[in-house]
This record gives sequence, structure tokens and C-alpha cells, in this order.
Amino acid sequence: MCGIISYLGNRKTAGKLVVDGLKKLEYRGYDSFGFAEKVNGKIRLTKKVGKISEFRENGKTFAKTNLALGHTRWATHGKVNRVNAHPHFSADGKVVVVHNGIVENHAELRKFLRGKGVKFVTETDTEVIPNLIVEFLKKNNLKEAVRKTAQKLRGRFAFVAIVAGEEKLCAARNGSPLILGIEKFFPKSDDKLLAKIDGSAFFIASDTPAFLNHTPDVVYLDDGEMVEIEASPKQDHFHAQFFGITKGTAVKKRIISLDLKESKTEKGDFAHFMLKEIFEQKETIHRALKQDEKQLEKVAQLIRKSFGTFFIGCGTAGKVCATAEYLFAKIARRHVNVIFGSEFDTQEPFLTNKTLLIAVSQSGETADVLEAYKIAKRRGVKTVGVVNVAGSSVARGSDVVLPVNAGVEKAVASTKATTAQLAILTLLAYALAGKLAEGQQMLAEAGSQIDELLNPRYSEHLEKIAQKIKRVESMYVIGKGTDYPMALEAAIKLQEVSYIHAEGFAAGELKHGPLALITKGTPLIAFVPADRSLGVGGPANGYRQEVLSNVSEVKARGGRIIGVSPQNDPLFDEWIRVPDVGNAQPIVNIIPIQLLAYHLAVLRKNNPDLPRNLAKSVTVK
Ligand code: M6R
Repeated sequence: MCGIISYLGNRKTAGKLVVDGLKKLEYRGYDSFGFAEKVNGKIRLTKKVGKISEFRENGKTFAKTNLALGHTRWATHGKVNRVNAHPHFSADGKVVVVHNGIVENHAELRKFLRGKGVKFVTETDTEVIPNLIVEFLKKNNLKEAVRKTAQKLRGRFAFVAIVAGEEKLCAARNGSPLILGIEKFFPKSDDKLLAKIDGSAFFIASDTPAFLNHTPDVVYLDDGEMVEIEASPKQDHFHAQFFGITKGTAVKKRIISLDLKESKTEKGDFAHFMLKEIFEQKETIHRALKQDEKQLEKVAQLIRKSFGTFFIGCGTAGKVCATAEYLFAKIARRHVNVIFGSEFDTQEPFLTNKTLLIAVSQSGETADVLEAYKIAKRRGVKTVGVVNVAGSSVARGSDVVLPVNAGVEKAVASTKATTAQLAILTLLAYALAGKLAEGQQMLAEAGSQIDELLNPRYSEHLEKIAQKIKRVESMYVIGKGTDYPMALEAAIKLQEVSYIHAEGFAAGELKHGPLALITKGTPLIAFVPADRSLGVGGPANGYRQEVLSNVSEVKARGGRIIGVSPQNDPLFDEWIRVPDVGNAQPIVNIIPIQLLAYHLAVLRKNNPDLPRNLAKSVTVK
């Protein structure tokens, strides 16, 4: 949800470093971009509508400077146009800001600033920030002006500011991620916690891929914190100092060395990140299983002791959570509650210090999940984060973390993180049932089957099916038991990258209404279990016959049946073969639909990595 990056250091290529970083943050927003460079005490601005990846640089693009900041936008306030693109200037042209988040009280602040004679030129909420800083600069230095400005803002935000004429960067965080990257750290003591850090250069960005090719050393800012970067007194290096927004007193922070390799965040030979990440599932399932058994046992124990366990997530992660209801009932005979992050506040009356909250999130920065965490903390609820991005807000705010270990996921449509999260929830259900070893073996076998399944021929088969249905207006997906949340997830995948209207239903629900939508040729994707599957309290031969009956009701009305199943059936117009992997079935069932959605996107000339109107990490409510 908007990517920001800034650089201050010993290199004179700040503009280029910022633009390269923005390209790596493009997944956070891609309707417009811009960057500002400090040149001879003035600020030079470049802004454009469109994707940063399509920006063509030439010899004149960048100034020779060691201070720059940039932004790639996902519009929240104001149309997508050049004027609304960041960075934003104060009315007097002295202060420039890049911002991620929402200033909820911007209307009130505009009114106040208008009263001071400020003329606004954009429709954005952000424009109040540089103008407030100017107001406070009248009696304060930059650090204090930024701090006082941050105190005035309501909502979730992260912003970076610079002032013409000063070689400084100042940034504040409250709710949206902000990470400091330190190039060539100069340690001055053995202390692990530092209020001041010396280095040759500093980056401040929304996410680590923006600068990981320059340094693995980072400091995560927490809510209510700010950082100021400036040259050392001798002007031979730079230093960063941390402060609290409320009092302005020094805050001590820890430097973390990440072991992520930047190369892993590149596409390699794949046409798109989405395809690369789908294929990475050959190994990510195995990596997800490498959990610390003590931690798994600890979470299982927390579930046993809890009076009410809630699984929360949003979008795809929400669908992953929904499988938990079935998996925990079937494997561990335990009822758990599942609710979207944005709905969790409705449960506040039931939360006590005996409640357990398990949040599933790829980014660990989803605002709806972080809001749920705030409520949980207020109520003394224990929290467990099943999270992919190490160091994210969910990871740092959880009592226990189960790392997803899927590596950097760049495509907006989640694929490898999804199946890794499914594997971890399945493992947890086995741990709760006291059968961890059985679960580990079952999932490892499923992982090996995925390894065999994911080959170019399988992908070509899905591409052929995509060719046949690429012009349809609507399609539907059905499943029963754990396949029901997977039907919902399949629909999300199809919607977000193919832009075809897709909806998921519990198989037995079609006849209660949605069947009216079926006309000749309407595709129905049906997750049909193998004969031997046993459902929760289901018939001895499993749900296959029951789901096939639902399928035949659609077939009788002209629907085109795409069966996802270990076994073929005469009802299927197309058969997508999946291995029969017992309780790991949701993991293998969703993979071919990820591929189908990918091929539909490409055939319909959509960019599957950067779907319209979306962003990878949704840091606004
Ligand atoms: O980072 P998170 O897992 O918390 O993100 C939650 C959703 O925004 C995310 O899953 C979204 O639905 C994806 N684009 C789906 O592919």
C-alpha cells in the first residue's frame, strides 16, 4: 500500500538508488511514482503516472546528489494523476514528504492550515504533512517539527521528510512499516541496543527488498518512533538517532542482520513472479514443515488451555484460516473460531485473558490484522503469528511466531505463502492431536507429490484449459469440507489476476440459489475428493458422490465442468488431476487453480504480478 524509500549517505547517486529501490517496492502500489533529489540546496522533483518498472532513465534523469527520497503510489485520496503523485511539497516549496498510510483527520488539518494561508494543490491527505512541518519549523528544528507533526496525525502512517537547505532525513512511524537499512555500520561499542548508529549511508524504506542488495543490516522502527539521519560533526560519515514521538526522548534499537539474499527476489527465467512463486511450491512446502517442534507444542498447549481460539486473516490468508475450522475438527476434534481480521472487533465482548488469537499473514503488515492485535493486547489475549515476513509488525507483536519460511513473495496474488500457511495449520492440528510425527510425514509426502506435479506439461495442460474459457464472463467454484474455503480462495485467485467474475460456494449450496446463474457453457470448477476420503462425520465413502451429485445438477443445466480430482469422472468436460494426499488435499487442490488463474491473466493480456486496483500489502483499514 504505497512504497517509500529514501537515501542519505556517502554516494552521489542517491536518485538512482532510490529509483532502483522503488522498482523493488512496486508490488506495494503502482498507479504513479515520483522522487525528489536535493541539488545545491534546492529540491528537484520527478513525478509520473504509471508503473516505475516502465520508467525509462537517460543521462539527464538523475542529479549528482547524496540525498533523495521516492514513492510508488496506491491511491487512497485523490485521482491517479501527476499532481496527486508523491513526493508532496509544502506550499512554500521548502519541505518535501513521501507518505504511506492515511491521515484520517486531513480535512480538519487542511482547515487549520488554510487558516494560516496555506494553498493546497493536490487532493491527497498527505499534503497536510509537509505544511504542518513548515508550521512547526517556525519555532523548532526538523526533528521537533516532524515529531510535533506526527502527534497531530490520526490514522496509520509512515512518512519521510526533507527540508531544502538541510542535509537531513527525518522519518516517523505509526501503524505503517518503516525500516532503516545501514550501509557499513561503524560500531562504537559492544552494546546491542543503540540510540545512535554510525554508518556510511542509510536507507529508510517500507520494506527490506528496497535496499537488500546494498545491506542486510536493518533496524525496524516501531509504532510511535522516529529516526533522524544527518552527517557526523566531522562530516566523514552519517549517523541515525532514534526518538519516541510522544516525548522526543532517545529510544534504543537493535540492529538485525537479515540473511535474505537479494537474488532470491528476482524473477530469474520466469516470465512473471507469480509463475516463479507457483513453481517454488516444490520446495516451500518442505521449508514450511521445518518448524521448531517446541514452538508448535507451545502453541498446541495454548490452544488446549484457551477458552476460545480465534484464527484471523484477510483475503487469501482469511481463506487459509477458514480451513482450520475443518482441519482442527477432523484431526484434533477441537472447535476453533475463524473470522476475517476486519471483523474481529465485533468479537471484543467475548475476549478475555483466556482467549487465544492466531493471526495468519504473509506480509505481517495488514492493517486489519494489526487493528485486531491492538484489541487483543487491550484484552490480555495471547497472540500467535503465522507470518512470512520476518521482522514484520505481526511477527514482532506476537507472543509466539510460527515462521512460514516461503521466502519473499512478490506477486500481489499470494501462492507459495498460501500453501505454506496451509501446511503449518495442518501441522498444528496434528500437534494438538498429539500426532505431530504422523502429520509431518503426511505433509512431507504431499510435498513430494507437489514436486512431481509441478512440471511444464502440467502448466501447459492448465494453459489449454485457460484457452478454452478465457472469454467467459463468469465462473464458479465449489467444494465441500476443507475444499469449501479452497473454492473461495480459487475464486479470489481468478478474480484478482484474470478479472473474470468468479465466486466460490459450498458444493451443497448451489441448489439453494446460485444454480440460477448457470447457463450453457458456464464453467464450474469442482473440487471432487477421491473415493476413499473420509469427511468430518461424512459417509464412509467420503464426499465424492455427494459433490458429484452437485456437479451433475450443473451439468444438466449446460455448465462446463472442470473437475479437480485424483480420479476422472464422465461428468467432467476437463479433468485436472491432483494427487490424493488425505488431509493435505487443500494444499494440492489450490495449486492448479493458481496456474489456471495465471494463464488466464496472461491470455487476457493482464499483468498477473501487478493486478489493477490492488497492492501486495494492505496497510490501510
Ligand atoms: O499479507 P497478508 O497475508 O496479511 O495479506 C492479506 C490479503 O491482503 C492477501 O492475502 C490478498 O488477499 C492477496 N492479494 C490474495 O492473493
